[in-house]
Amino acid sequence: MFLLKSKWLRENWLRAITHVGAWLPLIWLAWRWRANALGVDPVTTLNNVTGRTAMLLLLLCLAATPLYIVTGWRQGLAARRALGLYAFLYAALHFANFIALDYGFDWQFILDDGIQTKPYILVGFAALLALTALAVTSTKGWQKRLRRQWTRLHWLIYPSGVLIMLHFFWQAKAAEKVEPLAYALVLGLLLVVRAPPLRKTIIRWRNRSRVAQRVQAAPPERAARTTPPQPTE
Ligand code: HEM
Repeated sequence: MFLLKSKWLRENWLRAITHVGAWLPLIWLAWRWRANALGVDPVTTLNNVTGRTAMLLLLLCLAATPLYIVTGWRQGLAARRALGLYAFLYAALHFANFIALDYGFDWQFILDDGIQTKPYILVGFAALLALTALAVTSTKGWQKRLRRQWTRLHWLIYPSGVLIMLHFFWQAKAAEKVEPLAYALVLGLLLVVRAPPLRKTIIRWRNRSRVAQRVQAAPPERAARTTPPQPTE
């Protein structure tokens, strides 16, 4: 009841959901770790949960602008920075799990076994480098310092999304390729909606249907004023 009445929560519900939702997988992992309940292969569980969470958060981050284009809902745009930073946090944990728990900091073994026999790791590494650059320069200070270069640099989010899908697809066994393909399709749709010609067309449709709805909802005399004059015979 208190939560429903809270003015702060009514104004900041999206921010609250973003932060609480993003911490939940980590809390869940920590709890399972302490309870010794990470399954028969805890390293794989950690790897899968951190990798998937990073990917999902990145997709949510990339979904904010298409959602605005299609529905006109602006609030989601404000959650992009937090979602991107949480995606980076989980990607960093995913990487830390790989070098520390999976390969025990054995750099030679990482090179011989990890990289030479599993090339998808290099793809994941390239994506992580891009996410690191985006996370470091995500502050207002860097935005001011880099000016137009900042927008160019943050364009890296698109190739990093593609690299992550490639990494996910490549590491999956033949029988399990459908899921990465489905995520890649979602990413594809999110990117296509941003393409300037499609973006402009969708926004034009949205504005037109909004005007039509307003005309329908308006009282008759106002609707007559709002309706454009009809050509006379
Ligand atoms: C240097 C960076 C990275 C390394 C070393 C790495 C390593 C790995 C490894 C070893 C696997 C498991 C393969 C297997 O089970 O046989 C994996 C899976 C995966 N990784 Fe990465 N990865 C990196 C970067 C990333 C990044 C940046 C993301 C996403 C933001 C990501 C998302 C995933 C996903 C979604 C999976 C599949 C998990 C599942 O099957 O449930 N990885 N990665």
